[in-house]
Amino acid sequence: MPDPECVAPPAALLSLHHPPELAVIVPTFNERDNVRALTEAVAHALSGTSFEIIFVDDDSSDGTREVLSQIAAERGNIRMIHRIGRRGLSTAVTEGMLSTTAPYVAVIDADMQHDERILPDMLRLLRDGEADLVIGSRYVEGGGIGEWDAKRATVSSTATKLAKLITSADITDPMSGFFAITRPALNGAVRSLSGQGYKILLDIAASTQAPLRIRELPYHFRTRQHGESKLDALIVWEYLLLLVDKLIGHIVPARFVSFMFIGGLGVFVHMGVLGTMGAVGASFLWAQASATIIAMVFNFFVNNTLTYRDRRLKGFVPVTRGLLTFMLVCAVGAFANVGIADYLFSDYHYGWLSAGLAGILVGVVWNYATSSVVTWRS
Ligand code: GDD
Ligand code: MN
Repeated sequence: MPDPECVAPPAALLSLHHPPELAVIVPTFNERDNVRALTEAVAHALSGTSFEIIFVDDDSSDGTREVLSQIAAERGNIRMIHRIGRRGLSTAVTEGMLSTTAPYVAVIDADMQHDERILPDMLRLLRDGEADLVIGSRYVEGGGIGEWDAKRATVSSTATKLAKLITSADITDPMSGFFAITRPALNGAVRSLSGQGYKILLDIAASTQAPLRIRELPYHFRTRQHGESKLDALIVWEYLLLLVDKLIGHIVPARFVSFMFIGGLGVFVHMGVLGTMGAVGASFLWAQASATIIAMVFNFFVNNTLTYRDRRLKGFVPVTRGLLTFMLVCAVGAFANVGIADYLFSDYHYGWLSAGLAGILVGVVWNYATSSVVTWRS
Protein backbone atom coordinates (compact mmCIF):
# COMPACT_ATOMS: atom_id res chain seq x y z
CA MET A 1 0.00 0.00 0.00
CA PRO A 2 1.67 3.26 -1.09
CA ASP A 3 1.99 6.10 1.37
CA PRO A 4 -0.99 8.36 0.55
CA GLU A 5 1.24 11.43 0.83
CA CYS A 6 3.46 10.13 -1.96
CA VAL A 7 0.73 9.49 -4.50
CA ALA A 8 0.86 12.06 -7.29
CA PRO A 9 -2.18 14.37 -7.35
CA PRO A 10 -4.61 13.97 -10.25
CA ALA A 11 -3.80 15.99 -13.35
CA ALA A 12 -6.65 18.41 -12.69
CA LEU A 13 -5.10 19.37 -9.38
CA LEU A 14 -1.63 19.59 -10.84
CA SER A 15 -2.74 22.24 -13.27
CA LEU A 16 -3.73 24.42 -10.31
CA HIS A 17 -0.10 24.55 -9.31
CA HIS A 18 1.10 26.03 -12.56
CA PRO A 19 2.31 29.53 -11.83
CA PRO A 20 -0.08 31.94 -13.53
CA GLU A 21 1.36 34.56 -15.83
CA LEU A 22 0.02 37.44 -13.76
CA ALA A 23 -0.60 37.77 -10.02
CA VAL A 24 -2.93 40.60 -9.00
CA ILE A 25 -2.27 41.74 -5.44
CA VAL A 26 -5.15 43.36 -3.56
CA PRO A 27 -4.53 44.81 -0.09
CA THR A 28 -7.67 44.78 2.05
CA PHE A 29 -8.70 46.26 5.33
CA ASN A 30 -12.45 46.12 5.94
CA GLU A 31 -13.57 45.82 2.32
CA ARG A 32 -16.39 43.29 2.74
CA ASP A 33 -18.75 44.98 0.31
CA ASN A 34 -16.13 45.53 -2.38
CA VAL A 35 -14.15 42.33 -2.81
CA ARG A 36 -16.74 40.35 -4.76
CA ALA A 37 -17.36 43.10 -7.29
CA LEU A 38 -13.62 43.66 -7.60
CA THR A 39 -12.93 39.97 -8.19
CA GLU A 40 -15.59 39.82 -10.89
CA ALA A 41 -14.36 43.00 -12.55
CA VAL A 42 -10.73 41.82 -12.57
CA ALA A 43 -11.69 38.35 -13.82
CA HIS A 44 -13.76 39.92 -16.57
CA ALA A 45 -10.96 42.27 -17.62
CA LEU A 46 -8.41 39.45 -17.61
CA SER A 47 -10.52 36.73 -19.23
CA GLY A 48 -8.29 34.65 -21.48
CA THR A 49 -5.23 35.44 -19.33
CA SER A 50 -3.66 33.08 -16.84
CA PHE A 51 -3.85 34.99 -13.56
CA GLU A 52 -4.41 34.66 -9.85
CA ILE A 53 -5.70 37.17 -7.33
CA ILE A 54 -3.97 37.40 -3.97
CA PHE A 55 -5.75 39.31 -1.24
CA VAL A 56 -3.60 40.48 1.65
CA ASP A 57 -5.89 41.15 4.58
CA ASP A 58 -4.75 42.88 7.78
CA ASP A 59 -7.19 41.12 10.08
CA SER A 60 -10.33 42.96 8.90
CA SER A 61 -13.12 42.89 11.45
CA ASP A 62 -16.04 43.35 9.04
CA GLY A 63 -16.21 39.84 7.57
CA THR A 64 -14.00 40.50 4.53
CA ARG A 65 -12.25 37.14 4.94
CA GLU A 66 -15.52 35.22 5.10
CA VAL A 67 -16.58 36.74 1.78
CA LEU A 68 -13.15 35.93 0.35
CA SER A 69 -13.50 32.30 1.44
CA GLN A 70 -16.81 32.07 -0.38
CA ILE A 71 -15.33 33.58 -3.53
CA ALA A 72 -12.32 31.26 -3.32
CA ALA A 73 -14.64 28.24 -3.03
CA GLU A 74 -16.31 29.27 -6.27
CA ARG A 75 -13.15 30.01 -8.23
CA GLY A 76 -9.76 28.34 -8.38
CA ASN A 77 -7.44 31.27 -8.69
CA ILE A 78 -8.04 33.20 -5.47
CA ARG A 79 -5.64 33.19 -2.56
CA MET A 80 -5.52 35.09 0.69
CA ILE A 81 -2.81 36.07 3.13
CA HIS A 82 -4.18 36.84 6.56
CA ARG A 83 -1.85 39.04 8.63
CA ILE A 84 -2.42 39.46 12.34
CA GLY A 85 -1.16 42.21 14.64
CA ARG A 86 0.22 44.37 11.85
CA ARG A 87 -1.08 47.16 9.70
CA GLY A 88 0.35 48.74 6.62
CA LEU A 89 -0.51 49.00 2.99
CA SER A 90 3.10 48.91 1.74
CA THR A 91 4.19 45.84 3.67
CA ALA A 92 0.91 44.06 2.83
CA VAL A 93 1.49 44.63 -0.88
CA THR A 94 5.14 43.56 -0.64
CA GLU A 95 4.28 40.31 1.11
CA GLY A 96 1.61 39.60 -1.48
CA MET A 97 4.06 40.19 -4.34
CA LEU A 98 6.61 37.89 -2.73
CA SER A 99 4.10 35.11 -2.13
CA THR A 100 3.85 34.18 -5.79
CA THR A 101 6.18 33.00 -8.55
CA ALA A 102 4.15 34.66 -11.31
CA PRO A 103 6.52 36.48 -13.69
CA TYR A 104 4.34 39.60 -13.71
CA VAL A 105 2.69 41.19 -10.69
CA ALA A 106 0.01 43.88 -10.58
CA VAL A 107 -1.32 45.82 -7.57
CA ILE A 108 -4.83 47.25 -7.37
CA ASP A 109 -7.00 48.66 -4.56
CA ALA A 110 -9.99 46.62 -3.39
CA ASP A 111 -12.45 49.49 -3.50
CA MET A 112 -12.83 49.74 -7.31
CA GLN A 113 -11.28 53.22 -7.42
CA HIS A 114 -8.67 51.95 -9.88
CA ASP A 115 -9.82 51.02 -13.36
CA GLU A 116 -9.13 47.31 -13.78
CA ARG A 117 -9.85 47.54 -17.52
CA ILE A 118 -6.30 48.74 -18.18
CA LEU A 119 -4.77 45.60 -16.61
CA PRO A 120 -4.51 43.77 -19.98
CA ASP A 121 -2.62 46.73 -21.51
CA MET A 122 -0.33 46.85 -18.49
CA LEU A 123 0.41 43.15 -18.88
CA ARG A 124 0.97 43.47 -22.62
CA LEU A 125 3.58 46.21 -22.19
CA LEU A 126 5.46 44.05 -19.68
CA ARG A 127 5.16 40.88 -21.72
CA ASP A 128 6.31 42.61 -24.92
CA GLY A 129 9.35 43.91 -23.08
CA GLU A 130 8.35 47.53 -23.61
CA ALA A 131 8.51 48.33 -19.91
CA ASP A 132 9.62 46.91 -16.56
CA LEU A 133 7.02 48.92 -14.67
CA VAL A 134 3.65 50.15 -15.91
CA ILE A 135 1.80 52.69 -13.79
CA GLY A 136 -1.87 53.59 -13.85
CA SER A 137 -1.72 57.40 -13.83
CA ARG A 138 -4.35 60.00 -13.12
CA TYR A 139 -2.12 62.77 -14.44
CA VAL A 140 -1.33 61.78 -18.02
CA GLU A 141 -3.50 62.78 -20.95
CA GLY A 142 -6.78 60.88 -20.70
CA GLY A 143 -6.59 60.31 -16.94
CA GLY A 144 -8.26 62.13 -14.07
CA ILE A 145 -8.73 62.38 -10.35
CA GLY A 146 -12.50 62.26 -10.36
CA GLU A 147 -14.44 63.84 -7.52
CA TRP A 148 -11.71 65.15 -5.28
CA ASP A 149 -12.07 68.23 -3.14
CA ALA A 150 -9.52 71.02 -3.52
CA LYS A 151 -7.77 70.07 -0.27
CA ARG A 152 -7.10 66.49 -1.24
CA ALA A 153 -5.97 67.56 -4.72
CA THR A 154 -3.47 70.01 -3.17
CA VAL A 155 -2.13 67.44 -0.72
CA SER A 156 -1.68 64.96 -3.55
CA SER A 157 0.09 67.40 -5.85
CA THR A 158 2.40 68.61 -3.04
CA ALA A 159 3.28 65.02 -2.19
CA THR A 160 3.96 64.36 -5.87
CA LYS A 161 6.43 67.27 -5.97
CA LEU A 162 8.18 66.09 -2.79
CA ALA A 163 8.59 62.64 -4.35
CA LYS A 164 11.20 64.18 -6.66
CA LEU A 165 13.48 64.36 -3.60
CA ILE A 166 13.87 60.61 -3.53
CA THR A 167 13.51 59.44 -7.12
CA SER A 168 14.72 60.85 -10.39
CA ALA A 169 12.35 58.60 -12.32
CA ASP A 170 10.01 60.48 -14.59
CA ILE A 171 6.63 59.55 -13.11
CA THR A 172 3.58 61.82 -13.27
CA ASP A 173 1.70 59.89 -10.57
CA PRO A 174 4.20 58.47 -8.06
CA MET A 175 1.41 58.37 -5.43
CA SER A 176 -0.47 55.79 -7.46
CA GLY A 177 -1.21 52.46 -5.82
CA PHE A 178 -2.08 50.93 -9.19
CA PHE A 179 0.75 49.39 -11.23
CA ALA A 180 2.25 46.26 -12.74
CA ILE A 181 5.87 45.16 -12.59
CA THR A 182 8.10 42.35 -13.85
CA ARG A 183 9.63 39.94 -11.37
CA PRO A 184 13.26 40.98 -12.12
CA ALA A 185 12.37 44.66 -11.65
CA LEU A 186 10.68 43.83 -8.37
CA ASN A 187 13.63 41.74 -7.22
CA GLY A 188 15.94 44.64 -7.98
CA ALA A 189 14.14 46.84 -5.46
CA VAL A 190 12.69 44.55 -2.85
CA ARG A 191 15.69 44.29 -0.53
CA SER A 192 15.99 48.06 -0.23
CA LEU A 193 12.32 48.84 0.31
CA SER A 194 11.54 51.12 3.20
CA GLY A 195 8.10 49.63 3.85
CA GLN A 196 7.07 52.89 5.52
CA GLY A 197 3.53 54.02 4.96
CA TYR A 198 1.28 53.66 1.94
CA LYS A 199 3.35 54.57 -1.05
CA ILE A 200 4.68 51.26 -2.24
CA LEU A 201 5.09 52.37 -5.85
CA LEU A 202 7.22 55.35 -4.84
CA ASP A 203 9.15 53.10 -2.48
CA ILE A 204 9.92 50.74 -5.38
CA ALA A 205 10.91 53.61 -7.70
CA ALA A 206 13.21 55.02 -5.00
CA SER A 207 14.69 51.63 -4.08
CA THR A 208 15.50 50.16 -7.46
CA GLN A 209 19.15 49.34 -8.06
CA ALA A 210 18.99 49.55 -11.85
CA PRO A 211 16.97 52.27 -13.64
CA LEU A 212 13.54 51.00 -14.70
CA ARG A 213 11.88 51.43 -18.03
CA ILE A 214 8.59 53.00 -17.00
CA ARG A 215 5.37 53.53 -18.91
CA GLU A 216 2.23 55.22 -17.65
CA LEU A 217 -1.31 54.48 -18.78
CA PRO A 218 -4.16 56.89 -18.09
CA TYR A 219 -7.19 56.03 -15.97
CA HIS A 220 -9.90 57.90 -14.12
CA PHE A 221 -9.84 57.54 -10.35
CA ARG A 222 -13.36 56.42 -9.46
CA THR A 223 -15.35 57.30 -6.38
CA ARG A 224 -15.49 54.72 -3.60
CA GLN A 225 -18.95 53.13 -3.46
CA HIS A 226 -18.78 51.04 -0.27
CA GLY A 227 -16.89 51.29 2.99
CA GLU A 228 -14.56 54.14 3.84
CA SER A 229 -11.03 55.24 3.04
CA LYS A 230 -8.41 53.98 5.49
CA LEU A 231 -6.08 56.87 4.90
CA ASP A 232 -6.35 59.45 7.66
CA ALA A 233 -4.41 62.52 8.83
CA LEU A 234 -1.46 60.36 9.83
CA ILE A 235 -0.82 59.44 6.21
CA VAL A 236 1.06 62.75 5.90
CA TRP A 237 3.33 61.77 8.79
CA GLU A 238 3.96 58.35 7.28
CA TYR A 239 4.78 59.92 3.96
CA LEU A 240 7.34 62.24 5.58
CA LEU A 241 8.90 59.21 7.27
CA LEU A 242 9.20 57.49 3.90
CA LEU A 243 11.01 60.56 2.54
CA VAL A 244 13.28 60.71 5.62
CA ASP A 245 14.01 57.01 5.36
CA LYS A 246 14.96 57.23 1.70
CA LEU A 247 17.03 60.39 2.21
CA ILE A 248 18.99 59.51 5.37
CA GLY A 249 17.76 56.03 6.32
CA HIS A 250 21.20 54.56 5.58
CA ILE A 251 22.60 56.81 8.34
CA VAL A 252 19.82 56.80 10.96
CA PRO A 253 16.55 54.83 10.89
CA ALA A 254 13.42 56.90 10.15
CA ARG A 255 11.86 55.51 13.30
CA PHE A 256 14.68 56.98 15.35
CA VAL A 257 14.18 60.36 13.69
CA SER A 258 10.49 60.15 14.60
CA PHE A 259 11.37 59.14 18.17
CA MET A 260 13.80 62.05 18.57
CA PHE A 261 11.37 64.53 17.09
CA ILE A 262 8.66 63.45 19.53
CA GLY A 263 11.20 63.55 22.37
CA GLY A 264 11.83 67.17 21.34
CA LEU A 265 8.11 67.91 21.60
CA GLY A 266 8.20 66.23 25.02
CA VAL A 267 10.68 68.86 26.19
CA PHE A 268 8.11 71.55 25.38
CA VAL A 269 5.42 69.64 27.27
CA HIS A 270 7.80 69.32 30.21
CA MET A 271 8.58 73.04 30.27
CA GLY A 272 4.90 73.91 29.92
CA VAL A 273 3.95 71.79 32.94
CA LEU A 274 6.91 73.04 34.95
CA GLY A 275 6.06 76.67 34.25
CA THR A 276 2.34 76.24 34.94
CA MET A 277 2.89 74.46 38.21
CA GLY A 278 5.44 77.06 39.26
CA ALA A 279 2.93 79.79 38.46
CA VAL A 280 0.29 78.20 40.71
CA GLY A 281 2.76 77.93 43.59
CA ALA A 282 3.89 74.28 43.54
CA SER A 283 7.36 73.47 44.90
CA PHE A 284 10.12 72.99 42.30
CA LEU A 285 10.57 69.34 43.23
CA TRP A 286 6.88 68.56 42.75
CA ALA A 287 6.67 70.57 39.57
CA GLN A 288 9.76 68.91 38.07
CA ALA A 289 8.62 65.42 39.09
CA SER A 290 5.12 65.97 37.65
CA ALA A 291 6.49 67.50 34.46
CA THR A 292 8.81 64.50 33.99
CA ILE A 293 5.99 62.00 34.39
CA ILE A 294 3.56 63.91 32.17
CA ALA A 295 6.21 64.30 29.46
CA MET A 296 6.88 60.54 29.58
CA VAL A 297 3.17 59.74 29.26
CA PHE A 298 2.91 62.20 26.38
CA ASN A 299 5.92 60.62 24.67
CA PHE A 300 4.51 57.14 25.11
CA PHE A 301 1.15 57.93 23.54
CA VAL A 302 2.52 60.00 20.66
CA ASN A 303 5.16 57.37 19.85
CA ASN A 304 2.51 54.69 20.04
CA THR A 305 0.46 56.58 17.45
CA LEU A 306 3.19 57.87 15.14
CA THR A 307 6.51 56.04 15.54
CA TYR A 308 4.99 52.60 16.07
CA ARG A 309 1.79 53.02 14.12
CA ASP A 310 2.26 49.63 12.47
CA ARG A 311 2.57 47.84 15.81
CA ARG A 312 0.43 50.15 17.84
CA LEU A 313 -0.54 48.86 21.27
CA LYS A 314 -4.30 48.75 21.76
CA GLY A 315 -6.58 47.73 24.61
CA PHE A 316 -6.28 48.45 28.32
CA VAL A 317 -3.77 45.75 29.30
CA PRO A 318 -1.31 46.15 26.39
CA VAL A 319 -1.39 49.95 26.69
CA THR A 320 -0.88 49.90 30.47
CA ARG A 321 1.91 47.39 30.17
CA GLY A 322 3.47 49.44 27.37
CA LEU A 323 3.23 52.67 29.38
CA LEU A 324 4.82 51.11 32.46
CA THR A 325 7.68 49.47 30.56
CA PHE A 326 8.25 52.71 28.65
CA MET A 327 8.48 54.70 31.87
CA LEU A 328 10.84 52.14 33.35
CA VAL A 329 13.05 52.25 30.25
CA CYS A 330 13.09 56.06 30.35
CA ALA A 331 13.92 56.08 34.07
CA VAL A 332 16.95 53.88 33.42
CA GLY A 333 17.78 56.12 30.44
CA ALA A 334 17.72 59.16 32.73
CA PHE A 335 20.20 57.48 35.11
CA ALA A 336 22.46 56.59 32.19
CA ASN A 337 22.18 60.16 30.91
CA VAL A 338 23.17 61.74 34.22
CA GLY A 339 25.84 59.11 34.92
CA ILE A 340 27.57 59.48 31.54
CA ALA A 341 27.32 63.26 31.59
CA ASP A 342 28.80 63.43 35.09
CA TYR A 343 31.59 61.02 34.16
CA LEU A 344 32.54 63.06 31.09
CA PHE A 345 32.31 66.27 33.07
CA SER A 346 34.33 65.13 36.10
CA ASP A 347 36.85 62.71 34.61
CA TYR A 348 37.30 64.10 31.10
CA HIS A 349 36.68 67.79 31.81
CA TYR A 350 33.97 68.18 29.17
CA GLY A 351 32.14 71.50 29.37
CA TRP A 352 28.60 71.73 30.78
CA LEU A 353 27.04 71.89 27.36
CA SER A 354 28.96 69.07 25.67
CA ALA A 355 28.72 66.78 28.71
CA GLY A 356 24.99 67.52 28.93
CA LEU A 357 24.43 66.82 25.21
CA ALA A 358 26.44 63.60 25.34
CA GLY A 359 24.32 62.46 28.29
CA ILE A 360 21.13 63.24 26.40
CA LEU A 361 22.34 61.37 23.32
CA VAL A 362 23.17 58.25 25.34
CA GLY A 363 19.80 58.48 27.11
CA VAL A 364 17.85 58.87 23.86
CA VAL A 365 19.64 56.02 22.11
CA TRP A 366 19.06 53.79 25.13
CA ASN A 367 15.38 54.77 25.34
CA TYR A 368 14.86 54.17 21.64
CA ALA A 369 16.74 50.88 21.38
CA THR A 370 15.31 49.40 24.55
CA SER A 371 11.71 50.53 24.13
CA SER A 372 11.70 49.17 20.58
CA VAL A 373 12.28 45.66 21.91
CA VAL A 374 10.64 45.89 25.35
CA THR A 375 7.63 48.17 24.84
CA TRP A 376 6.88 47.80 21.14
CA ARG A 377 8.02 44.25 20.59
CA SER A 378 7.86 43.41 16.89
N1 GDD B 1 -3.78 45.02 4.05
C1 GDD B 1 -4.00 46.33 4.22
N2 GDD B 1 -3.49 46.95 5.33
N3 GDD B 1 -4.72 47.02 3.32
C2 GDD B 1 -4.93 48.34 3.54
C3 GDD B 1 -4.45 49.02 4.66
C4 GDD B 1 -3.69 48.28 5.61
O1 GDD B 1 -3.21 48.78 6.62
N4 GDD B 1 -4.84 50.33 4.56
C5 GDD B 1 -5.54 50.43 3.43
N5 GDD B 1 -5.61 49.22 2.80
C6 GDD B 1 -6.25 48.89 1.51
C7 GDD B 1 -7.71 49.27 1.42
O2 GDD B 1 -8.55 48.24 1.88
C8 GDD B 1 -7.85 49.52 -0.08
O3 GDD B 1 -8.01 48.30 -0.78
C9 GDD B 1 -6.49 50.10 -0.47
O4 GDD B 1 -5.58 49.64 0.53
C10 GDD B 1 -6.47 51.63 -0.56
O5 GDD B 1 -6.95 52.17 0.63
P1 GDD B 1 -7.98 53.39 0.64
O6 GDD B 1 -8.32 53.62 2.06
O7 GDD B 1 -9.09 53.16 -0.32
O8 GDD B 1 -7.02 54.56 0.16
P2 GDD B 1 -7.25 55.80 -0.84
O9 GDD B 1 -8.39 55.60 -1.77
O10 GDD B 1 -7.25 57.05 -0.06
O11 GDD B 1 -5.85 55.79 -1.65
C11 GDD B 1 -5.47 54.76 -2.47
O12 GDD B 1 -5.53 55.13 -3.83
C12 GDD B 1 -4.57 56.06 -4.23
C13 GDD B 1 -4.70 56.40 -5.67
O13 GDD B 1 -4.31 55.36 -6.47
C14 GDD B 1 -4.08 54.23 -2.11
O14 GDD B 1 -3.83 53.03 -2.77
C15 GDD B 1 -3.04 55.18 -2.50
O15 GDD B 1 -1.78 54.57 -2.28
C16 GDD B 1 -3.22 55.54 -3.95
O16 GDD B 1 -2.34 56.52 -4.30
MN1 MN C 1 -9.67 54.06 -2.01
